[in-house]
Parts: sequence; structure tokens; C-alpha cells
Amino acid sequence: MFRSRRLHLVVVLLAASVAAAQQMSDQEIESKVNALVQKMTIEEKAGQLTQMGLTPQSSELARQGRVGSFLGVLGAKQVNDVQRGVMEHSRLKVPLLFGYDVIHGYRTVFPVPLASAGSFDMPLLEQAERIAAKEATASGVKWVFAPMVDIARDPRWGRIVEGAGEDPYLGSQVAAAKVRGFQGKNMADRDSVVACAKHYVAYGAVEGGRDYNTVDMSERLLREVYLPPFHAAVNAGVGTLMSAFNDLNGIPGVANHHTLTDILRNEWNFRGFVVSDWGAVHELLAHGTAADDAQATLEALKAGVDMDMVDGAYQSIPELVKSGKLPMSVVDEAVRRVLRVKFEAGLFDHPYADPAREATDILTPENRETARKLAQESMVLLENKGDLLPLKKNETVAVIGPLADDKASQLGPWAGDGQAKDAVTPLEGIAAKIGKEHVLYAKGVDIPGFEHGVGAGVVAPAPPSATGVVGQESGKPANIDDAVKAATQADVAVLFVGELAGMTGEASSRATLDLPGDQRKLIDAVVATGKPVMLVLESGRPLDLSWAPAQVPAIMQAWFPGVEAGNAIADVLFGDVSPSGRLAVSWPRSVGQIPVYYNHNNTGRPAAPDRWHTGYLDMTSQPLYPFGYGLSYTKFTYRDLKAEFTNARIATKGNHQGTLHVTAEVQNSGNREATEVVQLYVRDRVAPTSRPVRELKGFERVRLGPGESKTVSFSVQEHDLGSYDPEMHWIVPPGTYDVWVAPDSVTGIHGTFELK
Ligand code: BGC
Repeated sequence: MFRSRRLHLVVVLLAASVAAAQQMSDQEIESKVNALVQKMTIEEKAGQLTQMGLTPQSSELARQGRVGSFLGVLGAKQVNDVQRGVMEHSRLKVPLLFGYDVIHGYRTVFPVPLASAGSFDMPLLEQAERIAAKEATASGVKWVFAPMVDIARDPRWGRIVEGAGEDPYLGSQVAAAKVRGFQGKNMADRDSVVACAKHYVAYGAVEGGRDYNTVDMSERLLREVYLPPFHAAVNAGVGTLMSAFNDLNGIPGVANHHTLTDILRNEWNFRGFVVSDWGAVHELLAHGTAADDAQATLEALKAGVDMDMVDGAYQSIPELVKSGKLPMSVVDEAVRRVLRVKFEAGLFDHPYADPAREATDILTPENRETARKLAQESMVLLENKGDLLPLKKNETVAVIGPLADDKASQLGPWAGDGQAKDAVTPLEGIAAKIGKEHVLYAKGVDIPGFEHGVGAGVVAPAPPSATGVVGQESGKPANIDDAVKAATQADVAVLFVGELAGMTGEASSRATLDLPGDQRKLIDAVVATGKPVMLVLESGRPLDLSWAPAQVPAIMQAWFPGVEAGNAIADVLFGDVSPSGRLAVSWPRSVGQIPVYYNHNNTGRPAAPDRWHTGYLDMTSQPLYPFGYGLSYTKFTYRDLKAEFTNARIATKGNHQGTLHVTAEVQNSGNREATEVVQLYVRDRVAPTSRPVRELKGFERVRLGPGESKTVSFSVQEHDLGSYDPEMHWIVPPGTYDVWVAPDSVTGIHGTFELK
């Protein structure tokens, strides 16, 4: 006993000293970086600034020290083989950094980011990224191109699915939580990755929602809405950023000195490195700001893009330096940034992945459990008339629709190394929950792809599940009659409709938000049976549902829930879990309303029921469902709001040190335990510029038993109540502010406070 304790102590001490040895001080890193840079030839420097895909040629270049990073190389063995080429053959043995898109999980696929942001559960998001980092590193990936933190107000844009929605405050919280999760306590830990906040910046505001498009935006909108999540990621210590494809006010993302250097480096003191997006340096030729790759390289490098992704443009660096067009100091600074991250990531100590971890760390039951929990929390109950939900476990359920047993689409786009065969479909989840004998299945219709392809990142299709459930067999053409028959024989019909996974994501924007194909016809036919019908919508964006509330009593937005989709959906549908997800994006009634977002400014003629001229003649300006909205199986009552601003006397001009304190009582006035996402909104009534009608400033998930109540409290620092004045200085205007504690962005209880 005594001996084993001593042994334990020795092990602990040893582990601590190893950890200390691994954590080089900043100073040590700087001197190692400088020493390396001094030894490098210009070709080796250009190599560090070059990322490539793996080919026989690029792997040979790597052995010569002419490549800094690879992307898309997966699996410990393959990664180690390529790394060995560098560590054993190159002159300076600078390890490669292996990058990959781990957007919502690596092999254990979590709900798509737009969905999981709606959980408002930051610790759980952090945990999910911890798992993603652990799985990715087990497979040799040390750098993830995530989090994607682009604010988006346009659901036509396919990439809205990859981000946290429309709100800069929520977006910033999510960005920071994800960076913490990916990078862990220390990027050098074997199970941590280097994160990459992308796409810098304003990519979410592309014109018309068309991917890669132009953005023209005021400095105010940029700083108040689109930059904050990036700033939050930088403050959370993110190792890298990726520049965006789009041009901003005429300047392409890779060539924008103002955003990449003035703001990112000089204002925010970012010390990591910036990688271009895929081929974006070369794309300066198409943008028309460069005539050739050499000019493109000059523009991008000088603006502040340190590493060039895959297009090889930075191979022109040696020539540019030799001809005197590019100062060596610019190259050296970029190289230093890349090397610094490589040291901080512990790559010089541990260049190789540990192949044993692939078998133990990936797709474990615990990882799946977290995916299930996050999926449960991400689902948003949009309608539940007559309390149709939760469904009863002893009734017969007709499970209908093209997505009910589609494995690939459960994962969503950009699904990392996700495999369709790992996914639990809704049909499987429901059958597991209530027994196969209670389930009738019919696909009803197929979802056809679009003419221009279903988009990037779609995972390989898998055969539908074999649940043994009575109904349409695979291979038989889809048929609405089967669906009608199933509904007629059942007590209730649940329709799984929406989009295929590949209909959102990169290069997957849409001009309409309609349910593709014949899905509306399917819904009409099933509704006509007279049976109670509910919709479960799976999609990566809000779709046009304006017709739906009049037709069906219950609608749940499940998004693309990930590998545990079917289990999580069944947990919520049958009431084992009460839904608590909220919309991270306003849900338009029609494409014609876009952009529609909650934190808009007031106009001189604010909308009111008796004022037709404030919006459209043929439609209200209000979205179908607002940001922050989502129902529960219970009711919550809000009362007793107290708001007070306390001014710290030490505050000096330009130094905001007061705090807003808000409390309110929230009660579960129903008869089920459930979680409420309590939201804090503020409005500055009079400021030098027109301010949004509401701005989210805090939130808390509150779990309450039947009848239970809790006083929820929020504190907001004075600085965070401010805005830019007309000269773009940050100010916190004195005066009266409105404050709401609310279940969504339009209702809630109201109060005011004075900021003196
Ligand atoms: C996307 C990025 C992604 C990169 C590498 C690009 O097309 O815009 O988000 O990280 O490819 O896969």
C-alpha cells in the first residue's frame, strides 16, 4: 500500500515535470524561432508559407523542406509516413502541420453548427470540440479549420449552416467556447488541436446569399456585427485565422491590409498566423486585382496572409525577394508566425501521431453520448398546438418522409470524417424507443438534387437502415400512396422532410427556401387522411414554412442532428427530454423578407399594426419565428425584473468600469421538468447613432422542475453596453436604457435603467 502510494507520487511528479518541460516559455519559443529563421534559405522560408494537398510531387517537396503544411491527409499512419519524410530527410526538420475541416465533429458527428449554437449551452459546445480535437489528433490532424464564426443574416447562403447564426453576442460566446474546446488547456497537449477562426471577414454578408460574392459594408456594421466573433476567438487564444474569399468594399479578403493588419495585428495583437482560403491568393487574378501569381503573392503577403492554401502562388516568393520587390523582413515575419504556432502546438517535441489512439479514442460510446445530448438540446420546437407532443409510446406511429431513413443526411454537410453508416436515422431511433411493432414506415417521395449539383461536403451515401419495420422496402420507388396507407393505419403520423445534407454548405446557396421536390404534395396527402400529423424538419437553414402552421399542429426543427440523430429525435418526440433549443437565426416567412434579423435599427417610422408603409403591402415585416424562439413541453413564467447600473467611482473618461446588474424570477408553471434559455436584451434609447431595437447581452440555461422557480441574474460590464460614435470611437452613452429578460427576442418582461 505504502509502496504503491510512493510510486503514484513519483509518477505524478514525473508527469508534472514532463509537462513543465513541454511548455516552453514565450521567450524560449521566440529565440528558437529566430534561430531557425536565420538558418533558412529563401526556398525553405517560402516552403513554410505553403500548404499543399498530398501528391507524390508535394511529398517529395516536403522532404526538401519546401512545404509547411498539408491538408486532407488523414490517419495516423499516413500522417506519420509523410512527417517522417520531413523529419528524416529535410535539412532543418521543421515538422509539418496537418490541417482538416472539423466543422462539427471528426468521426463522431455533432449537430451542424447553426443547430448547436441554438443550444445556448457553452460548456457542452466546449466539450463537443474537446471530443472533436481528441478524435482528430488520434487520426494525426493537429489543425482544424474551425470554428467558422461568420455572422449570417441570409438563409439563402449555403454556409449559414456552418456558423452560429445572426447574433454577434451569441456568435462571440460560441467562438470562444469552441476555441477553448479545440485547443484545450494547452495546444501542445497531444489531444488538442490548433483552431482556425474563419472566414475573415464578412463572408456571411455576400450579396444575394450567392457564395463567394461581393460584400459592401460600412465600417460600423463590420465592427459591430461581423468582427466581434473573430475578436472573441482571438481573445480566447485562437492559434490561426483563415482569410475569406469575398471582397470587402472592393478589396479581396486575402489582400485586405486594413482587416488583416490594422485590425487583427495592430488593434487586437493577434500573434498566430493567417492562412488563405483554398486557392484564394491565385483568385486575385479573377478578382482583377493582380495580373499574375507573383503580384497576387505580393498583395496577400503584404496585407497579412502568412500561409497560402494549395494554389502554389507563394512559390513565387524567392524570385520576388531576389528581384527586390518583396522585402525579406515581410517574409521573415510571416515565417516567424508560422513557426511560433508550430512550437506552441508542441510539434517539435511530438511530430508524430500515436497510432494506438485511433482504436481507443474515436467514436466511443461516451463521444456518441455527448453527440446525443447536444442534438437533443439543439432541436427547436416551433409549433405544438393542442399539445400534440410529446407523443405517447404505446401508440402506432407512421414514420414518413424522404429523410426518415436517410443516413447520410443526418450528418449534414462538412461532416469531417463522418461515415453515413454510423448515423442513427429517425426511423431507427423511433423503432428503438417504442418498439418496431409500433412503427409503420413509408418514404413517400424522394428529394431530387438540384440541377447544379447538391453541393460540397456531402458524405458518401449509405444504404437505408434495416430496422425490420413494416413498410416500404429499399429499392422500391417512392410512392405517396404508401405514405397515406401508413398514416391511415397509425394513430399519428410524423413526417421527416427538408433538405439533403448537400443542399447546404459551401457552394450550396439557394434562390428559394421551398421544400425541394414533391414534399409539399406528400404533406398534403398525409394531412388529408385526417390523422394528427407533425413535421420534423431536417435542413441546414430556415425553409419557407409560412403555409405550415395552418396545416399541421406541431413542427420541430431538428436541423442535421449528427450521428445520434434518430435517438435524439426520439428522446424529444416521446418526451424523455423536453425541447430547449432556440433559433440562432430569425426564420423568414418568405425569401422576399431577407435580410430579416432581430437586432435591426429603428427607423423614423417604426413598424406598427396601423402603419402599412413600414414594411411590405403584401406581408408583415416580422419573421415567422424570431431569433431566440423555441417552445418547451412546459410553460415558463417571468416576473419581477430588477435592473440597476452601478458606477464604479474610479471610472475615468474612456475607461468604462460600471456594471449593469439584472435579476428576474423565472418559474416553471407547467407540470414537467424542463430547461429554459433565459435571454437578456438591452436597448440604448438615445445615442449619437441609431441603435438596434434590441441586443442580446446575456443568456442562461435554467433547468426547473414543475412549479419550481429561480432568480436568474446577469451582469454586463459597462464597456459592453457601448457602441461606436459617428467618428468610430467606442462610447457608452449615458441615459435611459431598456432591458428585457425574455424567452426570445420579441417578448419577455421589460424594465429600464439609467446609465449615469
Ligand atoms: C472553404 C474553407 C475550408 C477550405 C479547406 C474552402 O473551400 O471555404 O472553409 O476550410 O476549403 O477545405
